[in-house]
Amino acid sequence: MKKSAILMALVVMANAVPAFSAEEPPIDWPNWAYARYVPITAEDFELPPRTGEPPAYTYEPGDPALLSLPDSSLSFTDSDINNFYGPADWHPDEHPEMPDIVAYGDPERGIRACAFCHFANGQGKTENAHLSGLPESYFLAQLEAFASGDRFTSDPRKPNTYEMIRMAKLMTEEEKQQSAEYFAAIPFRPMVKVIETEMAPQVETLSTQLVVPIEGAEWVPLGNQIIEVPENPHATEALRDPHTVFLSYVPVGSVAKGKELVETGGGKTIQCGICHGPGLQGLADVPSLAGQTASYNMRQMWDVKQGTRLSPLMTAVVANLSAEDMLNIVAYVATLPPAGAEE
Ligand code: HEC
Ligand code: HEC
Repeated sequence: MKKSAILMALVVMANAVPAFSAEEPPIDWPNWAYARYVPITAEDFELPPRTGEPPAYTYEPGDPALLSLPDSSLSFTDSDINNFYGPADWHPDEHPEMPDIVAYGDPERGIRACAFCHFANGQGKTENAHLSGLPESYFLAQLEAFASGDRFTSDPRKPNTYEMIRMAKLMTEEEKQQSAEYFAAIPFRPMVKVIETEMAPQVETLSTQLVVPIEGAEWVPLGNQIIEVPENPHATEALRDPHTVFLSYVPVGSVAKGKELVETGGGKTIQCGICHGPGLQGLADVPSLAGQTASYNMRQMWDVKQGTRLSPLMTAVVANLSAEDMLNIVAYVATLPPAGAEE
């Protein structure tokens, strides 16, 4: 047994969150989808186990200056915007009344407000997930999968998935049900602009796992990856703007190649619409994919392929797809209008 394998075995035993072990991770690993821009290595799988505990936090009133967003009539202090356990709600008229778990979480159990990461409208971001409009049964099944170990990140460099897992374990049945009903009732807004390009901004990953352009840095060749950044990084990062739009810089030609695979299967996979519905806008309990960020969809397909997200139906879909095929698919899927898109 190699040293790394022994360590991994110990890690698995020591930690309730299962850890995936790869002696040598595949060389086509989509690092970009995990907000990492250096290739993953075997050593990354030897990272100490993560508990998913949120950072220590106490609310401090802080700077009294009021901040605003152009499309909201409200204004808030920096502390209110970034309160782990009750972040400012910029558009209370755009969603039903939030259940306490969504609006405040629970500081006692260290469950940060769902709205803190996924926004009050559930739109979510590249580094977490898009919750608005998800079928209730699917939503509940995913919380169950996180809690049981059937869903975790294949990339140990991604800390926030461990936090999601910890929260799913601690939530009560009532909280799960309330949050599932709440987010299911909100239409998912279009939030991605896909740009085929040879050059893209240089980026950095913030501690929140959000990827942003490096200010003042020159654009560089995109290569075989997708770079996905907020259109207005300040509004997204500092003001937690729930109307955030992401720019997806994708390789030239990827959208057409992805469309072909999605619509025909290309001899490698199953037509996605059979299960995900026309326009991939969801069908019964199968979730919508249309207009979700490329990073999110890529992680899900890759995690299924690596065996860290169990999905009996998706396993066959990804079995013969390469990382490049998946990149093309998620580039195309990001161009599709979600069911909730206003004309
Ligand atoms: C610290 C940030 C954070 C907070 C707070 C948070 N989540 Fe998440 N959530 C995540 C991340 C990260 C993922 C997805 C990880 C991945 O697989 O890429 C996720 C995924 C999900 C998913 C799966 C969505 C899908 O399409 O499959 C659900 C459901 C979910 N969260 C519900 C909740 C609920 C309910 C709360 C409030 C109790 C909550 N989250 C709070 C970070 C967070
Ligand atoms: C045989 C049915 C089936 C087909 C075909 C299928 N999917 Fe899925 N897919 C599912 C189901 C069901 C889920 C939800 C996870 C689960 O319950 O296992 C899912 C989940 C997903 C997710 C994660 C969604 C989320 O919110 O986390 C992505 C991404 C995805 N599928 C992409 C695709 C793509 C792309 C194709 C076509 C290449 C495809 N699927 C074809 C059944 C299917």
